[in-house]
Amino acid sequence: MNEALKQFIESNTPAIEQEMSALVEKIVAPSHLKESMLYSLNAGGKRIRPLFVAAVCEMYKKDLAPSLTVGAAVEMIHTYSLIHDDLPCMDDDELRRGKPTNHVVYGEALATLAGDALNTLAFGVIARMDLPAEKRIELVNLLSIAAGAEGMVGGQILDMDGEERLLNLTELEHVHVNKTGALLRFSIESGAVLADVAADERAALVEYAHHIGLAFQIQDDILDIEGTSEQLGKTAGKDIASDKSTYPALLSLEGAKAKLDDHYEQAIAALEKVQTNSSLLHEFATYIVKRKH
Ligand code: IPE
Ligand code: IPE
Ligand code: MG
Ligand code: MG
Ligand code: MG
Repeated sequence: MNEALKQFIESNTPAIEQEMSALVEKIVAPSHLKESMLYSLNAGGKRIRPLFVAAVCEMYKKDLAPSLTVGAAVEMIHTYSLIHDDLPCMDDDELRRGKPTNHVVYGEALATLAGDALNTLAFGVIARMDLPAEKRIELVNLLSIAAGAEGMVGGQILDMDGEERLLNLTELEHVHVNKTGALLRFSIESGAVLADVAADERAALVEYAHHIGLAFQIQDDILDIEGTSEQLGKTAGKDIASDKSTYPALLSLEGAKAKLDDHYEQAIAALEKVQTNSSLLHEFATYIVKRKH
């Protein structure tokens, strides 16, 4: 990994993790519910989404503190989506972030409710930030679109349909754009909101985010085939075992890799429209397509 990106990740990840824990610790709720929420939040994970929020603020030389709070909120939504994704009624997985999945430890009912609680807490966290009301409303609105039926949840539905029948490429792209791309797009766009980025430059960042979202999920699908459970911290080989429609299933592994390169190139091309130095986002894109877990 590029040295500047490595340093950025190493210097911001502890603050993101502290912020998430502190936000959950201070809520007044049954202790086993909080324990279950913290179990998944503190299990590790790459923290890509909060790091993207912070990276955009860093790029525009803005204060990183608000980006850590918005980042904590989007990581809560992401973590809830993983808890639910792993449930027996969905992907039925027993390993996540190198540990037993939430429902294996706490049971299905508590795992479902811990997911619900993380989902709703995320919106409250943004609503209570020390920002002008207009900005908070814009962020809550963007997050609600990204996380809900028009975003991640909608994508998960079509993803499940893709176990019953082979989706075509247009449908599969729609799955990726929503189930994974929507939260990544929010992460980058929310950074732009916090950093008061001008409309044309914000549009270029959103275009970058679109291709990063696709590339991220294509690499996830490739790693499901090429990675080991130990490397990934989650069960490898799940997609073939459950007959999922994925890029490798539709296009072969080689075809999926070509698509990955294609979206990488398009993400980089979008950055060329940005006047501000975007080397950090460039390095992020490289990391995402080369990552091994
Ligand atoms: C996994 O996301 C689920 C997808 C959307 C592909 P990540 O690969 O970001 O998982 P963590 O957060 O690092 O565990
Ligand atoms: C999940 O996609 C995306 C979510 C919205 C959680 P996957 O089902 O491919 O994610 P993994 O492979 O279990 O992490
Ligand atoms: Mg899934
Ligand atoms: Mg899954
Ligand atoms: Mg996967």
